[in-house]
Amino acid sequence: MKNTTPSGTGNPIDRVEGHLKVRGMAKYASEFPVSGKVYAQAINSTIAKGEITAIDTSEAEKQEGVIEIITYKNAEKLKRYDEELPSLLPDVIQPVLQSPKVHYYGEYVGLVVAETFEQAQYAARLVRFEYRTEEPRIHLDRQRSDAYKPEESSDYSRGDVAAGMAEADEKVEVTYHTPIEHHHPMELHAIIASWENGEVKAYASQQMIDNAAITIANTFQIPKEKVRVIAPYVGGGFGSKLHAKQHVILAIMAARKIGRPVQLTVTRQQMFTNTNFRQQNEQKMQLGAKKDGTLTALVHETLSHTSTYEEYQESCGTVSKMLYKVPNNKVSHRLVPLNLQTPFAMRAPGEATGSFALESAIDELAWKLKMDPIEFRIKNDTQTDPSNNKPFSSRLLTECLRIGADKFGWERRKMKPGAQQEGNWLIGYGVSGASRAAPYRETSSKVKLELKGGKVYATIQMDATDIGTGSYTIITQTASEYLDIPVDQVSVELGDSLFPVTPGSGGSWGAASYANGARVACMNAIRELNQKLNTDEDLSIQALLEKNELSSYETTGTAKPSEAFKKHSVYSFGANFAEVWVDKDTGMYRIKRMVNVGACGKILNPKTAFGQIIGGLTMGAGMVIAEQSRIEPKYGNFITRSFADYHVPVNLDLANIDVVFLPEEDKIANEMGVKGIGELGITSVAASIANAIFNATGKRMRDLPITPEKLIMAEPEPDAI
Ligand code: MOS
Repeated sequence: MKNTTPSGTGNPIDRVEGHLKVRGMAKYASEFPVSGKVYAQAINSTIAKGEITAIDTSEAEKQEGVIEIITYKNAEKLKRYDEELPSLLPDVIQPVLQSPKVHYYGEYVGLVVAETFEQAQYAARLVRFEYRTEEPRIHLDRQRSDAYKPEESSDYSRGDVAAGMAEADEKVEVTYHTPIEHHHPMELHAIIASWENGEVKAYASQQMIDNAAITIANTFQIPKEKVRVIAPYVGGGFGSKLHAKQHVILAIMAARKIGRPVQLTVTRQQMFTNTNFRQQNEQKMQLGAKKDGTLTALVHETLSHTSTYEEYQESCGTVSKMLYKVPNNKVSHRLVPLNLQTPFAMRAPGEATGSFALESAIDELAWKLKMDPIEFRIKNDTQTDPSNNKPFSSRLLTECLRIGADKFGWERRKMKPGAQQEGNWLIGYGVSGASRAAPYRETSSKVKLELKGGKVYATIQMDATDIGTGSYTIITQTASEYLDIPVDQVSVELGDSLFPVTPGSGGSWGAASYANGARVACMNAIRELNQKLNTDEDLSIQALLEKNELSSYETTGTAKPSEAFKKHSVYSFGANFAEVWVDKDTGMYRIKRMVNVGACGKILNPKTAFGQIIGGLTMGAGMVIAEQSRIEPKYGNFITRSFADYHVPVNLDLANIDVVFLPEEDKIANEMGVKGIGELGITSVAASIANAIFNATGKRMRDLPITPEKLIMAEPEPDAI
């Protein structure tokens, strides 16, 4: 097809919704002016395990403006789990206030609804609860004997790891620890819920519209068609908004009870206890290799936790199954039920933490082999996924490593730790390889065409979300390209369950799925208009409408994975490089430079893609320098309850960042050749920094975050200095 527009996919155009955002005109969930709305404040339990024995609402009820107080005693009966430890998936029911039982500190135990936000907040503090408390289980380490295997697929093996370890010339047997981390998107979780004629309408900050509608429908046991979820803009999610959580259910329940729209915003403090987190992991690694660098065995065993009422398993070992060619491989996952809320997917669930362990251990083994860690990785590269023997749809890991090395100036790196110094600074270089599945899911979209004043205007609708990622922009570019009209003649409408169904934003499938979905709708419009004319002339969309004597036309399209997709392993690949300066005396360190190279299919918009990777690198750096949610050891509440004590990186913590996308179109992945990048960006970043710290200091830091006190107290590896 001819294409005359200069702003189709591949061009770094500005975000089409940027001007709305900077002028405060992009509406987020809690900003919709719903008339007659009132405000709710949720109340949290102050014990980690036990039962509510008494509730006194009398003082709260007397307060001005208070409309309703809901606890388990007067809450609507919802659908409840009918099995022990059901899997927490993005569309499962979310019962709340259904029993006096308390499973974790901060669990919702009540809700106050009042005319104003302040009245609701004040009255919520006056509701008195009495509890019968039980000893909570909150320590992964102390409860390790409770560990269980969550599902059949939690264990994987090929070959014989004992034999593989026996034939190794060098071995690494080490354990890595990563703490609980929280997502903390800028926009608080929020909802404005109302009921009309038995139907729910919810402005809610959600990553996946369809799943939210399913969760709401199933929890209240109404048809999905009676639920409308609206989220045109979402201020970040990172996984925490993948499913409709209990606050969503609370607000909808309250709105039905009082017959008015209810707004409920989860506070920043509540986002520690009520909107999931990344679980703590203990990852035990065993690797063996021959003198020439051939990997002979790789074992990756993960111990982690779930809640006592739902099950969530994060596959930290996935990377170890498929990233390197190793004949003998064993991966396992075990969970301990704890009195904490259920952990859930946080950006690159599995890879972010799993690749810290794998890519650190690879560096440890390269050091023992006295091999360059890049050459060691390349030596064990493979074009066939060893976990399932499928070919990779495309895999440019070696190219990422080589091109990154060149860009970074890797040749200046000294193998010996501490060999580069400047004044009191020890300078280290680190590298890591990255892989992240590039899923692609069935996506539908509608296109509406309008001929006005000699121009064709197109509107694309789908229930996709833009969680800050740039969905509006890439969908606009796709329609512009395939209809061959300028971007300013394209409008994109997202985030409404009335629109065609998409998989939503999660798992790095958004961009590929949305763009291909929009493309098919546009191509269908062209094909259908051609068919009406019975022509095979290459006519513009304007000519097609004119010749059909149509002033408007609309149609839909659905894109889905091909047979070829299913026959391949489809992943994005990358490499991270970091330069770190460590102060010899204090253990304070600075990340000076980061280089990220990604091979992730066609880049729909280099500008928004760059933003994705920068965000990923920042979160990856955060895992190393600061992020950690600490639990009070006796009561099980989070000690870190605000950004004053849960630290995330700020600009000053960050480095000079270089991002390179290798030119690639993976047509097996999908017709447009697009693969995911949002989660690739965080994957293995932590390892590249930890490996740079080793290169600077000779110290192996296997416990995140790497604080200056941990670093200064650590002993160098015996042979390192
Ligand atoms: Mo992502 S953790 O699937 O938002």
